[in-house]
Amino acid sequence: MESLKPHAVLIPFPAQGHINPFLNLAKLLHFQGFHITFVHTEFNYQRILNSGGPDALSGLDDFRFETISDGLSPTSQRGIEDLQNMCITLPDHGRLSFRDLIVKLNASADVPDVSCIVSDGVMSFTVEVSHELGIPEMILFTPSGCAMLAYLHFEELKRKGYIPLKDDSCLTNGYLDTVIDWIPAMNGVRLKDFPSFIRTTDPQDIFLHHNFVSIHNSMKAKGIILNTFDELEQEVLDAIKTRFPVLYTIGPLSMLHQHVSLTHLKSIKSNLWKEDNECLKWLDAREHQSVVYVNYGSIITLTQEQLKEFGWGLANSKYPFLWAIRPDLLDGSDQFISNEFMDEIRGRGLLVGWCPQEKVLGHISVGGFLTHCGWNSTLESISQGVPMICWPFFGDQQTNCQYTCGKWGIGMEIDGEVKREKVERVVRELMEGVKGKEMRAKAREWRAKAEVATRPGGSSHTNFHMLVKDLFLS
Ligand code: UDX
Repeated sequence: MESLKPHAVLIPFPAQGHINPFLNLAKLLHFQGFHITFVHTEFNYQRILNSGGPDALSGLDDFRFETISDGLSPTSQRGIEDLQNMCITLPDHGRLSFRDLIVKLNASADVPDVSCIVSDGVMSFTVEVSHELGIPEMILFTPSGCAMLAYLHFEELKRKGYIPLKDDSCLTNGYLDTVIDWIPAMNGVRLKDFPSFIRTTDPQDIFLHHNFVSIHNSMKAKGIILNTFDELEQEVLDAIKTRFPVLYTIGPLSMLHQHVSLTHLKSIKSNLWKEDNECLKWLDAREHQSVVYVNYGSIITLTQEQLKEFGWGLANSKYPFLWAIRPDLLDGSDQFISNEFMDEIRGRGLLVGWCPQEKVLGHISVGGFLTHCGWNSTLESISQGVPMICWPFFGDQQTNCQYTCGKWGIGMEIDGEVKREKVERVVRELMEGVKGKEMRAKAREWRAKAEVATRPGGSSHTNFHMLVKDLFLS
């Protein structure tokens, strides 16, 4: 249907850390007058319905949800291995399903013709569809600028013979401490600070291959969008612009929301797990900045041993803590949580499955965040001025950790194996030590800068409006 209203189709990679920034962007674009089609996989659509109820997906006439197939069996749980499998199935299966969807939308009498596609850096196979159908496409990369710059150098690392690794001994013999001094804006970066996908001996490694393809395809998009702000990553962003000159830095997206009224879209949610809001009442009853909040994001899994060490480290620190343990966080089915542990933490430790993280981080009782350094978690912590204890696990988390602790001065790393003594020590340092105080002051400074960036006249606010204009003209 021809219409004056522009129609944006947004398609994130089907994982929580990708869906959240996409939904934030979709709501903002809707507020600017776009008709929105938001694309989930069939599997995730059902999960969101189950965890959030029908309201979570009941949009408006001009904010609709559609689905594509991810090509996996309906019975697989979409755990960490399945994310890898989706890197294989989506570019074929997903691409065809996505093409059919766009054709269907354009043939439909009750929605405007699709005027632009906003796709994910790791779903960049959509570029083929956009080129074939003559629809302009922008790419939203959900990781940080520093991680993106690292990804942009994978090819060069390969050409120079750093990756793939010669053999498994490279993982333990100090090879990963090699300093890479030839990347502008990444001075002092070590191989171990690169996204963990370089830690492979397999030249055909799926993640490595997927990264090459994603960067290659993204070059064909009209522009790149990043959920970060200029003041935080200026040098890195300047370096990225030499490869991607059309770059819109519009983060933190969740802060940009504060400047517009999105009340009519409030019920639309994207949680893949059922949210436990009771923890907010528990936080209400705690003292100002006294609580350590612990969350490992949506993908990683822990061994029982690691969980036990984290648990006893937190308990021994004697600080109150809110600990999110996703139903599928444990690698294996047995529970470590003993009666002895529950007795020990009674009255000062609360365990939840999935919580409203942004509200938790914004709660006055929270004094620190023990995080896996997913980019959304990192930005959400910065947005609330909360200092971090970093335990990166995989992917871009390593790079985020390096910048959080090294460059931005708002994190302390738990390096190597998790041991309860280490956890107890860093928690105490964060909550009562000199370093903790410095980090807290620095975190407040970054929050203030993020606020300025997202206010009218600020860099992210201005860039967002430039993006809107460019999408309108497309
Ligand atoms: C993954 C990667 O780990 C991350 O590094 C990459 O940038 C995006 O994909 P994930 O592990 O899910 O992300 O972590 P993160 O990026 O922090 O995203 C998790 C999101 O889920 C955050 O927006 C967080 O607020 C939300 N969340 C998490 C909740 O709402 N409740 C929870 O209990 C846990």
